[in-house]
Amino acid sequence: MKKDLGSLLALYPMPVTIVGAMVNGKPNFTTVAHVGIMNTGLPQFISISMNKAHHANKGIKENKAFSVCIPSEDMMAETDYLGIYSGAKINKSEFFKVFHGNLGNVPMIEKCPVCMECSLHDTIDFPNHELFIGKIIGTFAEEDVVVGNEIDFAKVRPILFDMSSRQYWKLGDQMGKAWSVGKNYRKG
Ligand SMILES: Cc1cc2nc3c(=O)[nH]c(=O)nc-3n(C[C@H](O)[C@H](O)[C@H](O)COP(=O)(O)O)c2cc1C
Repeated sequence: MKKDLGSLLALYPMPVTIVGAMVNGKPNFTTVAHVGIMNTGLPQFISISMNKAHHANKGIKENKAFSVCIPSEDMMAETDYLGIYSGAKINKSEFFKVFHGNLGNVPMIEKCPVCMECSLHDTIDFPNHELFIGKIIGTFAEEDVVVGNEIDFAKVRPILFDMSSRQYWKLGDQMGKAWSVGKNYRKG
């Protein structure tokens, strides 16, 4: 028997990211778990769902650009901090050593093993949130998390987030090769 939970969001866990944007000429960083992949293959598009009250939104709209960085497990406390306090109240600009990519106006976090810089492609207006769709212009990864030309997420050690328990989780073990383990499956 299934219990009807109404329209409860059940799409968890999600990887926690830190969104960077220049706001009033200063880097600002915001913790964001509601990220999506919009298009695979070139060009690549991702989305971030941002509450309209956030300080970051102003900068994303002004600069038409933002970054999405992936913090690793050892950054859990600072990631949580950025998700509690708004840049409207505190100065987040000196929180991290920042680097820039090709766009020049997108702050990215040196300490995060992986960062993507995005130009703003489109904005979808929802009642409480703005969904920013970004075109990935560049992806920067620490050499020690890259194998060949791919990112090894076991080495990245991303932070996963679940809204129901309000807990952070870590990545578990690999369990099977995609597009492979199902090849010879037959309905029993
Ligand atoms: C684990 C976690 C995940 C969050 N995910 C989102 C999210 O996906 N979208 C959102 O609008 N806010 C999210 N927040 C809340 C913002 O990070 C928070 O309100 C932040 O202080 C806004 O910062 P800003 O005003 O400097 O942009 C999250 C917070 C935490 C702790």
